[in-house]
Amino acid sequence: MAEKRKIIMDVDTGSDDAVALMLAMLDDYYDLLGITTVNGNLEVKLTTENTLRMVEFLGKQDEVKVYRGADLPLVSTLLPTTPQSLLPIPRREGESIPEGLHHAAHIPTPSFTIKEQPESAMVWLIETLLASKDREITLVPVGPLTNIALAMRADPRIIPKIREIVIMGGASERAGSKSMGAEFNAWIDPEALEIVLQSGCDITIVPLDATFAAYLTEQDAQRIRDIGSPEADMVASLVLKYGTAELLAAQKEKHIPMHDSLALCAVQFPEVLKTVECNCHTDISMGFAYGQTIIDKRPGSTTPRNCRFALGADREMFVNWIIGILEKKTARKGA
Ligand code: BDR
Ligand code: CA
Repeated sequence: MAEKRKIIMDVDTGSDDAVALMLAMLDDYYDLLGITTVNGNLEVKLTTENTLRMVEFLGKQDEVKVYRGADLPLVSTLLPTTPQSLLPIPRREGESIPEGLHHAAHIPTPSFTIKEQPESAMVWLIETLLASKDREITLVPVGPLTNIALAMRADPRIIPKIREIVIMGGASERAGSKSMGAEFNAWIDPEALEIVLQSGCDITIVPLDATFAAYLTEQDAQRIRDIGSPEADMVASLVLKYGTAELLAAQKEKHIPMHDSLALCAVQFPEVLKTVECNCHTDISMGFAYGQTIIDKRPGSTTPRNCRFALGADREMFVNWIIGILEKKTARKGA
C-alpha cells in the first residue's frame, strides 16, 4: 500500500471546516498528524471545542490530537481604526455572535468529553516539523494564517520541512467576502498570509474563485444524506448550515461552497483546481484593499512565481470525491 500523505490541518471550525476535518479523518489517503486551531469563524476556544467534537464524533480521539493556537490576528486588530477592530470579528473570548453560516455556540454532536493537548499549536507545529524529514509534511490551513506565520517567525528552520502548503483563502476575479476585495481568512489576518506567501514554501492557494466554482447544491446535500450513515447525515447538515439565507441571499441559484474541503481535496487531486502559477501578495497597507490577494496578471511579467493560484475548479469531481469517501468509509444506519 502506498505511503499515506502526512498532513496537518489548521482550522477555525465553525461548519465548513468541520466537513473538511471529517473527510481528512475518514479518507485513508491522509495521515492526519494532528489538528491546530485558530481564531476566525469563532473565538479560538469555540473553534477548538468544535474541532474536538468532530474528532470524538468519528471516534478518532486516540489517533488525532488537537492543539489550540492563536487567539487573535498578528496586527489587524491592534489599531482601533481598522475594520477588523471595529467589526465584531475576530472574536475575543466570550463575545457572542449571531447564528449564521457557522454555529454560534458549537456544532451539535452527541457528546463532548475529550480535551485539547497541553502544548500550544505553535509549539507543536515547530516540534513536529523539526522532527520530520525535509519536505515530508503538507500543511492545510483553512482559517486565518496566524498559527503558521507565528511558527515560521519563531523558528524558520521549519520552512524546508514543509512539503507543500494548500491554503483556503483569498480571491481574485471574484469579489471578496469581508470587504470589496478581501476574502474572510485573508482579511482576518492579512499580515500572516503575507508572511506565508513570502516564506519560499511550495504554496497552492484555493480562493473563492475556485470554491464557488465547486459549489454544492441542496440536491447534493440530499444525495449525501441518502448515504444513510450518521457521518453522512452530519456532513449533509453542515453543508445545509453553511447554505443559510445569509450566504444565498445574494445568489440567483442556491450554490453552497465547501471552501475548506476543496483545499483538502486538492492535496490528493491537484487536478480538481484550474491554477495559474503566479506572483501573489496580500495587501497589508490598511487601505481599501487591506487583506485583498493581488496576483500579477500582466502579460509577460517576470515577477517570481510564489504560488499556484486557483481560478476555477471541477465541481463534479469535487462532489463525487466527497460522496465517494462517505460511501466507502461510513456504515448505513441499522446496517
Ligand atoms: C473561509 O471563511 C470561512 O467562513 C470558511 O470556514 C472558509 O475557511 C471562506 O471565505
Ligand atoms: Ca475555515
